[in-house]
Amino acid sequence: MSQHRTKRRLTAPDIAKLKGETPIVSLTAYTAPIAAIVDKHCDFILVGDSLGMTVYGMPSTVGVTMEMMIAHGEAVVRSSERALVVIDMPFGSYEESPNQAFRNASRILKETGCGAVKLEGGAHMAETVAFLTARGVPVLGHIGLTPQAVHALGGYKVQGRASDAERLMADAHAISDAGAFGIVIEKSAEPISREITAAVPAPTIGIGASPACDGQILVVDDILGLFPDFRPKFAKVYAELAEAADVAIGAYAGEVRSRAFPEAKHTFKG
Ligand code: KIV
Repeated sequence: MSQHRTKRRLTAPDIAKLKGETPIVSLTAYTAPIAAIVDKHCDFILVGDSLGMTVYGMPSTVGVTMEMMIAHGEAVVRSSERALVVIDMPFGSYEESPNQAFRNASRILKETGCGAVKLEGGAHMAETVAFLTARGVPVLGHIGLTPQAVHALGGYKVQGRASDAERLMADAHAISDAGAFGIVIEKSAEPISREITAAVPAPTIGIGASPACDGQILVVDDILGLFPDFRPKFAKVYAELAEAADVAIGAYAGEVRSRAFPEAKHTFKG
């Protein structure tokens, strides 16, 4: 779907229909000003629980809460108008039972006005995905590397290699059959990511997966170069904003110390 074809906000079914049509473009956003920019260019915006790291400086996504996701989700919905907004369900908010998942997903939808939620997990989460979609909650699946399971996976390792590939394919089929409108495939071997894309009806959204995926997603902070000391292999840096911010903030500090700032034009007449 070309940008700006319509001002109507895109829905989960709109995104699902893009499979086989045109690449689906997505980025994360967590704040109003960045969401307004991402909205101009992307089909859907993910309020990812990666905000635990990018916004809150946490070591992983495990500590992210419902309150954090709702506060940032509200900000992103408020400052966007065209892209579908998808909000991550945080760790511990959906795994216990389909009922728990529905309770928290419906709260996210009601309190933020977003159009869909995302949850992590393969075949073992299929019952929950089916339960939610049958009750009017559009769900984006997330398989391969699932960061909320970092402790169980033993780190952020590439998934879907050799013996693991069959399981990943089964996960994709289970989540697609359960009614997910799309499936994020994260940090997974390229050949199986390509095969999954050809095999399942739901569009696949790659992050460190395959150029053959139906769409791509990245963490916006990664493409903007906001974390110069953390550069995942799968993320391309399109701007060096941490460097630019360092120069700007250093210049401001220097001018305050030398009294070059503020100038007369920055003050008010009496
Ligand atoms: O939390 C996140 O940012 C994600 C990725 C898929 C981008 O889940």
